[in-house]
Amino acid sequence: MPMASKGLEGIVAAETKISFIDGEKGVLEYIGIPIGELASHSTFEETVFLLWNGRLPNKAELAAFTAEIRKRYELPAGMEQRLLALPRDAKPMHMIRTMVSALSMHDHTPDANDIPSLRSKALNILARVPTLLAYFHRYRSGMPLVRPDVNLSVAENFLYMLNGERAKPTMAKALDVCLVLHADHGFNNSTFTARVLMSTQSDMYSAITAAIGSLKGPLHGGANEGVMVMLNEIPSLEATEKYVLDKLAKKDKIMGFGHRIYKSYDPRATHLQVLAKDLAAETGNSSLFEKSKKIEDVMATAVAAKGIYPNVDFYSATTYHCIGLPLDLFTPVFVIARVGGWAAHVIEQMSDNRLFRPDVDYKGPHGVKYTPMSAR
Ligand code: CMC
Repeated sequence: MPMASKGLEGIVAAETKISFIDGEKGVLEYIGIPIGELASHSTFEETVFLLWNGRLPNKAELAAFTAEIRKRYELPAGMEQRLLALPRDAKPMHMIRTMVSALSMHDHTPDANDIPSLRSKALNILARVPTLLAYFHRYRSGMPLVRPDVNLSVAENFLYMLNGERAKPTMAKALDVCLVLHADHGFNNSTFTARVLMSTQSDMYSAITAAIGSLKGPLHGGANEGVMVMLNEIPSLEATEKYVLDKLAKKDKIMGFGHRIYKSYDPRATHLQVLAKDLAAETGNSSLFEKSKKIEDVMATAVAAKGIYPNVDFYSATTYHCIGLPLDLFTPVFVIARVGGWAAHVIEQMSDNRLFRPDVDYKGPHGVKYTPMSAR
């Protein structure tokens, strides 16, 4: 029996044509296109088309795909009552995991796993996750729901439904770039979770529900909220160095740093750093950006030699704060984006499926005699 690899480090678990990462050189490509190109020129909708189809759309295809998403923005009948019956203090990641699962009950063929059906279910989830998040936020805040506007993009519409007014173009554009940057990332934990689940021939809703549960963890998508908590905890720029060094001395992790694959600068963080700086200046949050930069500088001196650099979550925290998102919606916004990648992987898995069923190295006892209850 081969040795177990803790955390499956270095194990190749499948083949994919969706995204490529070179962790040494700091490269990320979707279908071969460098992430920087997409962040500069693409949109979230076009990026999702790319991930689901393996190529960029032409103008007519993008218009048709965008229309398909927009006509599904509104929730199916019954879902709104379900949402309005939830506890107002429910945590948004628990809410969205539960409600994506509930969406399956409003689909007459939830278990249909042919490729066109999988795409249709993926569109349902992609279009409705932002609506669920915005409705829930307004409901818990005691504000009237704002209906989706089918003339708006996913990013614009989400901010509109959340805030009840059209977002400034710079804010909507910044969110759109964040969605592009977060849409896919190789065999990350939640994508692996989705593919493992789908390999049983279960269904798209179950796969995405499981993936959301995985993304929630602070070692994965939950780190962006951890970064903001840390930034709020640090009282001033002057206190930053001591805060970081004290944490490192206690062997605590600094949220938003480190990655299993990247041993150089995460290329998504390169873009987010610029975005965060610009938005911070525009919104009067420059001190937050300076604190983030100081953390980065302290980490560079203390641990960069170990290959620990900012990851995608580090500067997304400042970016989301400047866009005006509440702290507990940071990770749910990651969900909006990653549904694109998860669905692409579920479809790829079902295109050439084999059940995931690894072995395990048993280290427990053998031949233990059963002790009757009276003798225990
Ligand atoms: N702060 C301080 N030290 C760190 C950090 C960090 N953020 N990350 C790794 N290290 C150290 C760790 O202490 C260990 O040191 P040593 O060898 O001296 O014991 C070494 O680096 C290896 O760490 P590891 O935890 O074994 O590495 P891993 O590949 O299992 O974990 C990780 C990767 C992302 C879970 C980890 O870097 C981490 O916990 N980072 C903080 C949480 C975070 O930002 N997560 C978001 C990841 S990117 C977005 C996503 O995928 O969702």
